[in-house]
Amino acid sequence: MAARLRKSPDGGLPIRTPRLVLRDFEPGDAALLERAAARGRGAAMPPLGGRALAVAKRVAARGQPRYSPQRRSFELAVVLRRGAKLIGACDIARSGPRRADIGYVLASRHWGFGYGTEVAVALVDFAFAVLGLREVIAVVAVENERSRRVLDKAGLRWDGLMRRHTRFAGRWWDCHRYIIERATWSEARGLRR
Ligand SMILES: CC(C)(COP(=O)(O)OP(=O)(O)OC[C@H]1O[C@@H](n2cnc3c(N)ncnc32)[C@H](O)[C@@H]1OP(=O)(O)O)[C@@H](O)C(=O)NCCC(=O)NCCS
Repeated sequence: MAARLRKSPDGGLPIRTPRLVLRDFEPGDAALLERAAARGRGAAMPPLGGRALAVAKRVAARGQPRYSPQRRSFELAVVLRRGAKLIGACDIARSGPRRADIGYVLASRHWGFGYGTEVAVALVDFAFAVLGLREVIAVVAVENERSRRVLDKAGLRWDGLMRRHTRFAGRWWDCHRYIIERATWSEARGLRR
């Protein structure tokens, strides 16, 4: 499956999960994200929420850039398959020769239904099966128990504590680092390495 997806002319996008589609932003998304930001809902949360909004605005102004195999980051809309409703954003960005970082944010009314885990699993699969990477990293604030649980469920393991790792909203945040290597993923999926 990996080889087939890697040759896909659209770079394996959109990503489909049982209940979600992770797709490039479309022109109408910017206004929706901006409204969510104004309401202070989950989708507005920095830093990913801010990046997602910036990308969505760029797409609204200039259209979606064409697929390029050199693409290094994928900021994607999280959309419910049923009803095509935009419920959040996620991203996967190369952060080393064969490594990527993942992130996700959902509007708070959609928390607690397993969507966060569905997104994380899909991004990990995309990293290994489509991008052919060797490891996937996620960084999560120590207070964020919900996201830590999502990472556990997606098969990542704790890889260290980073004190004062990031600064936003006027303060420093201690963060945990999580990782999954390709070999672990292959074993878990019953695939050859
Ligand atoms: C993190 C986020 C995406 C999770 O989405 P979600 O759809 O609620 O996640 P899921 O439903 O797949 O899983 C949540 C898990 O956390 C658990 N959980 C909820 N509150 C918790 C808490 N306070 N402590 C520990 N676990 C908690 C749930 O029980 C569930 O685990 P379970 O399936 O074993 O019961 C969502 O909360 C969000 O958008 N948060 C804001 C942005 C963010 O923090 N992004 C991550 C940055 S690294």
